[in-house]
Amino acid sequence: MVKNASIDGEWTVVLPSKRRHGKRKTKPKVHEEEEEEEEEKPWKSDDLEIDPQRQARVKQKMENAIKKVESSKFYTTFLEQLKRPEVSDQFRHVLGAEAQLQMVMYGIGSIESYESPRFQLSIAILMKREFDWVGNIEVFDPVLSVTESSVLESLGCTVLSVNEQARREALKPTLFFMPHCEANLYNNLLQANWRMDRLSRIALFGNSFQMYEEQVTLEPQVIRATKRIIASRGFTSEFAIETVSDDYFPAFHDSSWHFFSPGLDSELPLLVSEGL
Ligand SMILES: C[S@@+](CC[C@H](N)C(=O)[O-])C[C@H]1O[C@@H](n2cnc3c(N)ncnc32)[C@H](O)[C@@H]1O
Repeated sequence: MVKNASIDGEWTVVLPSKRRHGKRKTKPKVHEEEEEEEEEKPWKSDDLEIDPQRQARVKQKMENAIKKVESSKFYTTFLEQLKRPEVSDQFRHVLGAEAQLQMVMYGIGSIESYESPRFQLSIAILMKREFDWVGNIEVFDPVLSVTESSVLESLGCTVLSVNEQARREALKPTLFFMPHCEANLYNNLLQANWRMDRLSRIALFGNSFQMYEEQVTLEPQVIRATKRIIASRGFTSEFAIETVSDDYFPAFHDSSWHFFSPGLDSELPLLVSEGL
């Protein structure tokens, strides 16, 4: 992903391409699928020790972000959407007979350096506080420092020490919270779960799959990075997030909830030509 420092110092998907209602319209950046090189491996942050002063500052920033989000029109609208039957029925379907969805968060970014990751994390934490069907939150991003990880733990999250490359198998109902990740991570997640029973146990928050489909090109690396995203479109229900105000646009633009219901394993497209 590129960091668009010229605009606001925040992570952004790519540089603005068009204007839409006066706001930035962005295009998801893809990253070539590198199945051979993407091993799951233990992860160590670059910093070795927690810095107590930085820790206190990051904690304060997070508390401020949670308060700001909680009292925003954006959050009210976000909750209203989750409570609408068309969306809540999807979550109920993912839950099945289980009481809780565990949350796995990939690609949150640096909560010390940027506001968007703080707003995104705030939403996840507020969801857990609001709904008893949201279980533990596990987090992984290779950019997280030991200090940031300690703040995440103090907020009740578990920081993973293995880079799963987003290939977690949904053996139980799981909410994957993957705000503004690169296409290859969504692709990896789908590939690891390319079976009806697993796909139906997934609720995914991330870049709009519809947008990937609209913007796909014939470049081989784009096709490789998005092929399962595109192949899943036929059995994906997608609900777009409303950013509501400019304050929340950088953190939530072009994001959607996604639910998968392929019906039968035999309806899943066979994707055998990995070398495409
Ligand atoms: C474009 S940034 C998005 C950051 C933040 N969510 C935002 O919207 O500003 C993509 C993030 O994915 C993270 N990432 C890359 N590979 C990852 C992996 N294997 N597992 C989890 N996160 C990963 C990067 O470190 C980066 O923070």
